[in-house]
Amino acid sequence: MKSLLEKLKENNMKPYHMPGHKRRVIAEGLPYSIDITEIEGFDNLHDMQGEIKDIADRGAQIYRSVASYPLVNGSTCGILAGIYSLTRDNKNILIARNCHKSVYNAAEIAGLAPTYIMPKTEKLGIMGKITPESVEKALKGSDIGTVVITSPTYEGVVSDVDAIYQVCKRYGAYLFVDAAHGAHFMEKAVKCDMCVMSLHKTLPALTQTALLNICSDRVDKSLVQHALSIFETSSPSYVLLASIDECLRYVQENKDDFDELARNLSFFYENTASLHNMKVFCFDDPTKIIIASSDGYLLADLLRKNNIEVEMASDYYVLAIVTCQDKLGDLQILLDALDKIDKILPPYNAPETLPINLPQKGDGTGQGEFCELDMCCGKISKEYIWAYPPGVPLVAPNEIIDKDIIGYLKSKKNLKSTMGKYPNIYVKKVL
Ligand SMILES: Cc1ncc(COP(=O)(O)O)c(C=O)c1O
Repeated sequence: MKSLLEKLKENNMKPYHMPGHKRRVIAEGLPYSIDITEIEGFDNLHDMQGEIKDIADRGAQIYRSVASYPLVNGSTCGILAGIYSLTRDNKNILIARNCHKSVYNAAEIAGLAPTYIMPKTEKLGIMGKITPESVEKALKGSDIGTVVITSPTYEGVVSDVDAIYQVCKRYGAYLFVDAAHGAHFMEKAVKCDMCVMSLHKTLPALTQTALLNICSDRVDKSLVQHALSIFETSSPSYVLLASIDECLRYVQENKDDFDELARNLSFFYENTASLHNMKVFCFDDPTKIIIASSDGYLLADLLRKNNIEVEMASDYYVLAIVTCQDKLGDLQILLDALDKIDKILPPYNAPETLPINLPQKGDGTGQGEFCELDMCCGKISKEYIWAYPPGVPLVAPNEIIDKDIIGYLKSKKNLKSTMGKYPNIYVKKVL
C-alpha cells in the first residue's frame, strides 16, 4: 500500500474544495526545517506577549474584534472554548439545528440540554437563514443565556446576524456565531459577542488554522483564556501559527485579489446559464458554488473523471468552493468540464425543495440498546447520526426517530454515528 505521504504527493486533482490555499504556496519555507516547540526566545500561544500577540492583534485589526485568539486546533477548538466560557452561568443554550457537531459537543461538555431552532428549508432541501423572529420566540420566557447560530453556512447562507444580536441583547443572552466559513468576509465585522472563523477553509492558510474573536465587552476575556487552556493543545504548532500570520498579512496586502475573485465569479455564473442538465447558483456567498443535477453523486464522479475534486456531493447537487487562490483560468477549467459533462448527464429533475422537519424531542435518559434502522420508528435516539461533510447531525440524542427520518437517512450516503455502528442506532431501551 502507498504511504500517505506518497499519495499526498501524487494527488494532482484540481481542488474546488478546502483548504483555501488550493495547494499554492503563499509563503516559502513552511515546514520541517522551522518546526519547533516552545523554546526560549519564542512567544507562547497560551501567554501571548511577542510575535504571537502580534498575530492576534493583526486578526483583531482585520476583523475589528475586541480581541482575537489564533487557533491551531481549528474552529472546533474555538467553538468548544467559546461556548464553555459563555455558559459558565449554567443558563441554557439555544442552538440552530443546522450547527456543526462541535456545537452539540460543546453543549454536552457544559452539561446543558439544548433547545433547538430550525432554519427554513431552501432550494434542494438546503437549510436556510435563522430569523430574528424565531430567536425571539425561543428566548421569550426562557432561561436561555447563550444563542449559537452558523453564518455563513457551509453552503453560503448568511443570516441577519445584526438583527439577531439585537434580539439576544434585549433578552440578556450572549450570541456566539460560528463563522467557520466566513473568514473571507473581512469587510463586514460580525456583530455578536463571540465568533469563530476557520482561516483554512476560505483563505490561504494551512489546515486547522482558525481565529476566535471576542466581539463585545460583555465577554469575560479571562474565562475565554481559561477555556482555551483547557481545549487547545499544549504543543501548538509554530508552523501553523506562522501560517496564520502569513495568511493575515496576505489579506492585508492583497485586497485586489478579492475584487478580482468577485469579477471572475460574475463571469463564471454568467457562463453557466446555458447549461441544460445542471443548474448553477449560489445563496449569499458566491464563492460557494452549488451545481444542481438529477444526481449529485454521479456529477461528482464525472467531475472526478475530468480531474476535478469538489468539496462535497449530495443527492441533487455538488458544492464547489473557490477562494482568492483560484484565478480566471481555474474557473474556466471548471466551466469547460461542466460544458462537457452537461452533454452526458440525465435531464434535470431535482426537486425544488425537500421538507426537513425538526424531530420531536423525547426523554432519552436511561439504558440504551442497538436497534436496526428499520426497527427504530418511534424510539428515542441516544446518539448523533451525521453525514460528513458538513457534519450537521441529522439525528441528535433525545430525538424521536419517525418514519420520515428513517426515509431521509436511507436516502443519504456516508452516514456516521457517534457509537460507530450505523445503520444500527443506539436508542433508549425501555420506552
Ligand atoms: C459550520 C462549521 N463549523 C465548524 C466547523 C469545524 O471547523 P474546523 O474544521 O476548523 O475545526 C466546521 C467544519 O467543517 C463547519 O462546517
